[in-house]
Amino acid sequence: MNVLAIESSCDETAAAVVVDGRTALSSVVASQVDLHARYGGVVPEVASRQHLRNIGPVIREALEAANLTLDDIDAVAGTRGPGLAGSLLVGYNAAKAIAYARDLPFLGVNHLEGHIYANWLVEGPEPKFPALCLVVSGGHTDLVFMRGHGQYQRLGGTRDDAAGEAFDKVGRLLGLPFPGGPHVAKAAEEGGPSDLKLPRAWMPGTFDFSFSGLKTAVLHTVRDGKYDTPTIAWEFQEAVVDVLAGKTSRLARELGAAEALVAGGVASNTRLREELRRRCPVPVRIPPAKFCTDNAAMIGAAAGFRLALGERSPLTEDIFTTNDWARV
Ligand code: KG4
Ligand code: ZN
Repeated sequence: MNVLAIESSCDETAAAVVVDGRTALSSVVASQVDLHARYGGVVPEVASRQHLRNIGPVIREALEAANLTLDDIDAVAGTRGPGLAGSLLVGYNAAKAIAYARDLPFLGVNHLEGHIYANWLVEGPEPKFPALCLVVSGGHTDLVFMRGHGQYQRLGGTRDDAAGEAFDKVGRLLGLPFPGGPHVAKAAEEGGPSDLKLPRAWMPGTFDFSFSGLKTAVLHTVRDGKYDTPTIAWEFQEAVVDVLAGKTSRLARELGAAEALVAGGVASNTRLREELRRRCPVPVRIPPAKFCTDNAAMIGAAAGFRLALGERSPLTEDIFTTNDWARV
């Protein structure tokens, strides 16, 4: 089944063609990062206007890159949330419009479920259940237990900032360009151990996370002026990675998970990838970086499995219908 998938939840306009939830024939991403960089963050109104400009060309490019036309498409999927409302509406309505015009099955996909399914785009055997998923993005930090396709149980999450959000805010404190995540990671490559010790919030007795105290500690450290940017970036990254890898590893052991699946933009962080692989007692699967940050192929992968189970979304469904997430 060839699924045309569309994603526009934040500042990336993306379209992809995915076969049977496993093979991306194309994955086109038009990033708006340069447009928002001067504001130090995503400006919602600017983002939705840019999505409107990009959506048509991006969909056409995704079909062309896959060497297909709309005649070859069997179903259409779109991200229905969570995300910026004005951004979501552009991609979601484009997906619904194509489905309506071509009389094709339509499916709305939760953005976080999409991130997890990026793991099915990796070549080789499929992920095994039960799986423990660590979703680390700009808006979410969740530990989700997955017993089968579409079956999610959220066992922990952040109480304040998401991991990516903490990276972005620390990037700003350090005077690095937007988005901070990759720039903090790059600065950390020049850093190393020092006597700077930043706090780790272990939140005993829970599988929750908290990064706001760490962020405040970075603010004070920057103000003190005793340490340079690479040293602060290194220690900050170690603190985040330590907690993420530590909690994921412990929970994977306690649950007897067959695999750990990592997802979301922060999953492209090299240190996080290393530490998870080193510490986790079960095999760790992490998609290639291009499928970790926002893309439409992951939406097509999630849709492929749901459609195969016979699921469809009515064209009357709106962007705030997100009840398919962590519902168990
Ligand atoms: O999943 P994503 O593309 O968008 C959301 O759904 O939020 O994640 C974006 C987040 C941003 O906060 C970005 O700074 C972070 O992922 N990120 C990274 C890295 N690459 C992207 N954080 C740390 N290290 C990286 N290499
Ligand atoms: Zn995302």
